[in-house]
Amino acid sequence: MDEGGGPDGEEGPYRKRTLTLSEQIDYSVSHIRHTLSSMEQGGINPAFEEEENERGDPSIQVTKFDSEDACNSIKPDADEVYSQLKPYAGMPKEVLLLYSSQARYKVLREVLFWLTVACTLVLIALTITVIALSPRCLSWWQMSPVYQIYPRSFKDSDGDGVGDLKGILQQLDHFQYLNIKSIWVSPFYRSPMKDFGYDVEDFRDIDPLFGTMQDFEELLTEMHKRDLKLIMDFIPNHTSDKHRWFNLSRSGDPHYRDYYVWTDCNASNPKPNNWVSIFGNSSWSYDEVRKQCYYHQFLKEQPDLNFRNPDVRKEISDLIHFWLKKGVDGFRMDAVKHIFEAEHLRDEQQVDPNKPPEITTEWDLYHDFTTTQIGLHDLLREWRAEMDVYSREPGRYRFLVIESYDYHEIEKTMMYYSTPLVKEGDFPFNFYLLDLPQNTSGFWVKHLVDLWMSNMPKGQWPNWVVGNHDRARIGTSVAPYVRAINMMLLTLPGTATTYYGEEIGMQNINITQDQSLSRDPQRSPMQWSDGVNAGFSLQSNATWLPVHPDYKTVNVEVQKKNESSVLAQYRSLNSLRESELPLHRGWFCYVHTDASVFSYLRELDGLNRAFLIVLNFGKEAAVTDLSAVNELPSQLSVLMSTVHENTGKSVSKSQIRTEAGEGLLIRFNSNKKFNQNHQEQCYISEKACYLGAMDILYKC
Ligand code: GLC
Ligand code: MG
Repeated sequence: MDEGGGPDGEEGPYRKRTLTLSEQIDYSVSHIRHTLSSMEQGGINPAFEEEENERGDPSIQVTKFDSEDACNSIKPDADEVYSQLKPYAGMPKEVLLLYSSQARYKVLREVLFWLTVACTLVLIALTITVIALSPRCLSWWQMSPVYQIYPRSFKDSDGDGVGDLKGILQQLDHFQYLNIKSIWVSPFYRSPMKDFGYDVEDFRDIDPLFGTMQDFEELLTEMHKRDLKLIMDFIPNHTSDKHRWFNLSRSGDPHYRDYYVWTDCNASNPKPNNWVSIFGNSSWSYDEVRKQCYYHQFLKEQPDLNFRNPDVRKEISDLIHFWLKKGVDGFRMDAVKHIFEAEHLRDEQQVDPNKPPEITTEWDLYHDFTTTQIGLHDLLREWRAEMDVYSREPGRYRFLVIESYDYHEIEKTMMYYSTPLVKEGDFPFNFYLLDLPQNTSGFWVKHLVDLWMSNMPKGQWPNWVVGNHDRARIGTSVAPYVRAINMMLLTLPGTATTYYGEEIGMQNINITQDQSLSRDPQRSPMQWSDGVNAGFSLQSNATWLPVHPDYKTVNVEVQKKNESSVLAQYRSLNSLRESELPLHRGWFCYVHTDASVFSYLRELDGLNRAFLIVLNFGKEAAVTDLSAVNELPSQLSVLMSTVHENTGKSVSKSQIRTEAGEGLLIRFNSNKKFNQNHQEQCYISEKACYLGAMDILYKC
C-alpha cells in the first residue's frame, strides 16, 4: 500500500494511511486501553473521544503491539469495567461478547428466535390449510362451451367452396367475441372423403383440401396465443381402405396381415355372420385380393382395425403421442364402443325373433358381440395415461371426450367417466338432449336433463349436446325454442357443446335428393354475413353445399348489431356464466316442472346472489306460481329474457309469466339456501363455499 496516501488519497499535514487488519485490531485494543485509563481519570464517554479523534486529534497514538498480549493484558477485572461501558461502533469482539451475554440481550435474542420459529410454523400451517381447504380450480374445458367446427363448412379461404384450416385461422376473433375457449375440429387428416374425413388415409398428414401441416401448426400457434384450446378428432376404430396398412394387409404382408379383422367367407354371399353396419346392411365385405372378408362397422371403405393385435395398439398410441407432441390440447375419441368385437364371430340376437332373418339395420339386433367388449375401458385408460404424461405442466391439461351412443343403456355411457381411482374420459358426450324435439314440454326436458344428472357418477362434470354433424339441427326441429335452449345450455351445470351456427340459430338446409340418411342438411356453410355465399367463401360461386336461404338475416354480422339477436343473447349468457360463480360451479336444484315450464336455480353456499331460470317449452304462455319457494324473495327482477322486451321487468314470484319458447334468467339475493332444505332436488359436482370477507372459495 502506498505509504503516503490516505484512504481517500488525501494529502495534508495529518495524512491518514489505511491500516492493515492486524493494525486495526491493535488499534482497537489500544483504544480500549485508552478508554479505560480515561475512565479512571474521569469517565469520558469513548464515543465522544472517538469523535474527537475523527476530527483529527493527534493526541491519540496508534501504538502497535501483539493482539494476544492485549487480550491477556485486559482480561483481569475487564468484565467489571466493560459492564459500565456503553456499546460503541467498532467495538471489538471481546467487548461485544460481554454485552451480548448480558441477561437483557440474551432474553431479547431468545424471544426473537422463538418468535421467528413460531411465525414460520404458523405460515406453513396456514399454507397447508389453504391448500387443503381450496376447492380444485376448474380446468379450461370446464370454463367455456366446447365449440364444434366442421372444417368443410366453417370458412373457405381459397375459394374452392370447401372450408379449410386457413379459414378457421381467419375467424378466430369470433371465439374471442363469444368468450369461447375450446374448439373441437372434426377431422382434417388426409382422406379420400368417403365419410368426409372420418375415413383416414394418413393420420400423420393434413388433407390438401384443408391445407398443409404448416397451416395446422400456424393455426395451433395462433390459437394458443389467444388462449384458445384445440381438440382434435381422433378415429381409432377404423382407417380408410386407402390407408397403407390396409393395402399391406389385404396383400398378405406378414407384419400387416392381422391389422384388420379378416375371416374366410363365401365370395358370392360374403356374410360370415349377421352383423350389420351402422350405415345399414352387412358389416362384411369381400376382398378380391386377399379372397377373404373384412369387417367394417361403418362404410365398406372404412375397414375396422384389429385391436387384439399389439402392433395395432402400438401404432395408435404412437399417433396419440404424435399429436400431443405437436401441442394439441385434447381428443374427441370417435366411435369407441366399436373398437373391439367378439372373436367367436357368432350371430347377434335379433330384437324381434319373429322377423325374417334378413337383417338390414343396426336396430334389428342386440349388439352384444360388436360393441362395448371387454378390454375397451382398459385401452381407453391406457390412452388416458399417455395423455397424462403431457398434462403435467401448468395450463397444459389434455382433455379427453368420448363419443358413444348407448341410447337407453346409459350406464354404459357413464362407464367412460373417470373414477376416483382410475382416470378415463373427462366426460362422455351427453347425447340425450338430442331427443328434445321428440316431445317439447317441461316434463320431457326435465326428464332428459335428469337422465344425465341422476345417472352420472358422483362428483363428475356434466355436459350437454343438442347438435353435431351427425344429427339434424335443433334450430329446425324445435325452432321456436332455440333461444330457450341456448339459455338452458349456458345455465345448466357443466360444459355445453355448441355446434357451429347454433349461436346464431342456424337451420338445416333442404336437400332434395334422398334425404332419409343424408347428414348434409346440418352441414351447410356457416353464415357469416349477408354477402356472397353468406361470407363463407368470398371467391367461389359454388359452395360444397348450398347456403341456407335465411342467411340474409341469420348471420353473424347482422346479429352482432342487434342486441336482441340469438347471437347477442348467447354471448351475454356465456359471459355471465364465466363471471358468476353460482352459474359455473354452484348448486343446481330443480324448482318446478309442469307440462310447459321447466325451472331450476343455481346458488352457492356463502353467496347471497343466486339465479332462477324459468323456461317455457310448452305450446302456450304459462304463469308459474313459486310462492311456496320460501328461499325466493317475493318480488323478482328479470336479468334477461329471450323475449327482449321482458328483460328488466319486475315479476312477483307467485305469478311468473312466460311466453311459449321464452326463457327467463332471474338474479336474486337471499341468504336462505334452497339446497339445504331440498337436498334430493339438488346436485353439485364439487362442493365449494364462498367467504365474502376474503372473496375466496373453500371446500365445505
Ligand atoms: C362418428 C362420427 C361420424 C362418422 C362415424 C364413423 O360417429 O361422428 O360422422 O361417420 O363416427 O367414423
Ligand atoms: Mg377451401
